[in-house]
Amino acid sequence: MYSLPKLTRDVSLNAIAVLTSGGDAPGMNPAIRSVARAALNAGIEVYGVQRGYSGLIIGDMALLDSASVSNIVQRGGTMLKSDRCDAFRDPAVRKQAAAILRERGVDGLVVIGGDGSLTGAHLLAEESGLAVVGLPGTIDNDIFGTDDTIGFDTAVTTALEAIDKIRDTALSHEQLFLVEVMGRNSGFIATQVGLAGGAEMILVPGYEIQVESICFQLAADRAAGKGSSGIIVVAEGPTPGLTYRLAERLRSHDQTAKVCILGHIQRGGSPTGHDRVLASCLGFSAVEYLRAGYSDIMIGVQNGQICQVPLEDVVNRSKPLDPALVDLVHLLHR
Ligand code: F6P
Repeated sequence: MYSLPKLTRDVSLNAIAVLTSGGDAPGMNPAIRSVARAALNAGIEVYGVQRGYSGLIIGDMALLDSASVSNIVQRGGTMLKSDRCDAFRDPAVRKQAAAILRERGVDGLVVIGGDGSLTGAHLLAEESGLAVVGLPGTIDNDIFGTDDTIGFDTAVTTALEAIDKIRDTALSHEQLFLVEVMGRNSGFIATQVGLAGGAEMILVPGYEIQVESICFQLAADRAAGKGSSGIIVVAEGPTPGLTYRLAERLRSHDQTAKVCILGHIQRGGSPTGHDRVLASCLGFSAVEYLRAGYSDIMIGVQNGQICQVPLEDVVNRSKPLDPALVDLVHLLHR
């Protein structure tokens, strides 16, 4: 359980807006519900913006009432839809977005999304003076300044279910599998899934892939009577399909491996209880921080406490993966 912030509510807000942006993440819906109901309960109007920044820049938004966020707490995806909006990189477009919000009488915006979306939120706050608060919403858990992100737990749970099933067939056929998980340039999903799924090995960005040492390890496993089945969890890296290239390289060393790319299945599905609670606490806190006069911040979690971090710090830094956890996966396999 998280402890919620207790802040002095210094600012009187008439209306706020909420949007979801970038790759969707299970838990975005409970976050929207929490933002909307926290605001409505405080007498603040709430606009739901459609399709992230793409909807914002054309004013595609409508007022939400309590009923409009009913029955979404358990649903994957985002009721507001999401988009990756390249146009928002243009300062003139951001100026237009700020003008649209002001025209509607909106004095606070909550942006739920990943790194790129939070960068947009930071620039909008900095350039327009509008109050903007970001929430970390991405399955990748790669946001600096927060231990956890909305959607990560669900994605890991989904990937684990798949891996447990793959292990059944891997054992039956004494087969090696390369299972590719999402996370783009980060290895948080791969590490968590590798640890919880008892993977023989994980390959994550930042560590060079040495096919020879993989082959050496496989041979050592066989010599130790561990059989020829196994699961290597591979973080996708910048572009999906790394596992196919790796299987090809293994083949040239007389090792056969089946490839399974889990892909977008990791972004869907009903959010876990953990993600629903996280999203609800972050959504409520976003409204509390806006009411206390904060802007240009992200609300995250550090050591189990809800906290605020300046967006400037969040977007200019990358979150390190603990190498000890990567080592632990390999240690526990031996
Ligand atoms: O950032 C979330 C994420 O799911 C990454 O893990 C993945 O690399 C990327 O989005 C895929 O994005 P898209 O659905 O736009 O191809």
